Amino acid sequence: MRDPIPPTIEWRRDRIRLIDQRELPARLTFVECATVGEVCGAIRSMAVRGAPALGATGAYGVALAARHARGAAAVRSAAERLVATRPTAVNLAWGVARALDAYERSGFDGALAEAHRIASDDVAANRAIGRYGADLLPEGSRVMTHCNAGALACVGYGTAVGVIRAAAEAGKRPHVWVGETRPVLQGARLTAWELDRLGIDATLVADTMAASLMGRGDVDVVVVGADRIAANGDVANKIGTYGLAVLAAHHDVPFLVAAPTSTIDLSTPDGGAIEVEERDADEVRCVAGTRIAPARVTALNRAFDVTPAKLVTAIVTEQGVARRPYARSLARLVRARARQR
Ligand code: MRU
Repeated sequence: MRDPIPPTIEWRRDRIRLIDQRELPARLTFVECATVGEVCGAIRSMAVRGAPALGATGAYGVALAARHARGAAAVRSAAERLVATRPTAVNLAWGVARALDAYERSGFDGALAEAHRIASDDVAANRAIGRYGADLLPEGSRVMTHCNAGALACVGYGTAVGVIRAAAEAGKRPHVWVGETRPVLQGARLTAWELDRLGIDATLVADTMAASLMGRGDVDVVVVGADRIAANGDVANKIGTYGLAVLAAHHDVPFLVAAPTSTIDLSTPDGGAIEVEERDADEVRCVAGTRIAPARVTALNRAFDVTPAKLVTAIVTEQGVARRPYARSLARLVRARARQR
């Protein structure tokens, strides 16, 4: 069956074609990047976003540099520029490093082949995450999710939304509470759009409603994605995730993180070592381009927060499900992936 959501990222005639996520849900349009500068702009402005999608985009960005740059020094400097666009999602640095490595060994062809491999592995990994995660969702679960960890945040299928999608495909009829995810509204704009296209039952709620829903017993499980998972299991994800995890623990609701092993960063010992991106304060002062606060009011816009490992019930990856103590279980899953390559 044809996927109702087109690929987020594609290489077409020496250009990278991206779904322009700034335009959703009003319009499904695409942006084409012909230069590394355009790729960096698309990442910074969030035309493309989400950890696995950034990994694939970064890898294709290196291929683009290899296609046009004169010499290895220029390709290396393009790789540095790509990594510097957004600091928190480790997949970006990971995808760029893999493509750069392939370029150093076999030039443009090697870099492009590696980017294609990252893109197709992403969809396969997400389907596997979906299968493992769907086993953890009881029939008819009421699932809360945050931000967008769907097909749009990946090359396809999605991680947290992939778990929900796999449960729906298995006939488990999940219902999804979609948190709108201020300030950039990835939940309202992107996750709600995806679930609508997929025909999965969903209700959009203001972020501030989560406590009330859990307090009334209306949430069976929370499933979110991740931008970086430290070696001890601390999880960086969209701002607001930590609050949901605290609420879930208080109400005895399982809190699941769904992410590929490429999001696990064993070189980061714990969440305190993760750099959290701070974005333009106008994202908080405005909604969809309309100012909702005095122009001169100070606003703080941390894009991510870190959920301590002790609040995470399980981490679902394409290699299987990790549980506490995460230092051991995550290292085992990363080793399992290394053996497959
Ligand atoms: O700022 P964004 O939209 O790039 O943040 C995205 C998230 O926080 C996602 O939950 C995360 O990248 C996982 S995507 C599968």
